[in-house]
Amino acid sequence: MKLFQKLLAAGMALTMLLAMTACGGSKGTLVMATNATFPPYEFIEDGKIVGIDAEMAAAIAEKLNMTLEIEDVEFGSIVGGVASGKYDIGVAGMTVDPDRLESVNFSESYATGVQVVIVKEDSAIQSLDDLEGKKIGVQQDTTGDIYSTDDFGEENIVRYNKGADAVQALVSDKIDCVIIDNEPAKSFVQNNAGLKILDSEYAVEDYAIAIAKDNDELLKKVNDALAELKAEGKLQEIIDKYIPAE
Ligand code: ARG
Repeated sequence: MKLFQKLLAAGMALTMLLAMTACGGSKGTLVMATNATFPPYEFIEDGKIVGIDAEMAAAIAEKLNMTLEIEDVEFGSIVGGVASGKYDIGVAGMTVDPDRLESVNFSESYATGVQVVIVKEDSAIQSLDDLEGKKIGVQQDTTGDIYSTDDFGEENIVRYNKGADAVQALVSDKIDCVIIDNEPAKSFVQNNAGLKILDSEYAVEDYAIAIAKDNDELLKKVNDALAELKAEGKLQEIIDKYIPAE
């Protein structure tokens, strides 16, 4: 090796060493995408993203010896961002659905979600049979949006950026009902007078963590960590903290 080659090699080695130290040695970062508008799974409290998904992901990251970093993004951009490798995991009360499975993999399920209908207490809508031709509010790009567009027609669906915005529209009579997951529905109904949830369930689904298709290694690690959290009772503990038994 010529002297300048040796210097170059030494310089490169130093740069790599510095880069590794900057990342905190072997402790890598696990980047999670979510949409923190979805209590009790993810919401903002005192400027921080908290909830079942945030705590579960932190527990998974800890098992993987990684540092969790949470990015709050539009719900509709999570699957694409995970598929492209912008985010490592998508954790957002996200339903395993055939369309999404075309672009990402899902971990084992960690919770069940139910699509329900929120109406005003004095609403004429009493069951799913009464939804025909009614104005239905949804959070854009959620399964509530996808299924109800299929069942009741594009012209009857009003899409909002957040579930809470759809609920405000219902309160001010701009729409007739909101279709959304049961746990956020309970929270929205609790926080707004004059609303109720219909007894009939619209759809039952599984929540899971989205991971890029080409990242089988991470999928395996996340599934192992999830299985441990379930076996230890830790997952249930996190869920019970946010969804107290009735
Ligand atoms: N479970 C529904 C879906 O997967 C809604 C999830 C919305 N999540 C959120 N963090 N806003 O489409």
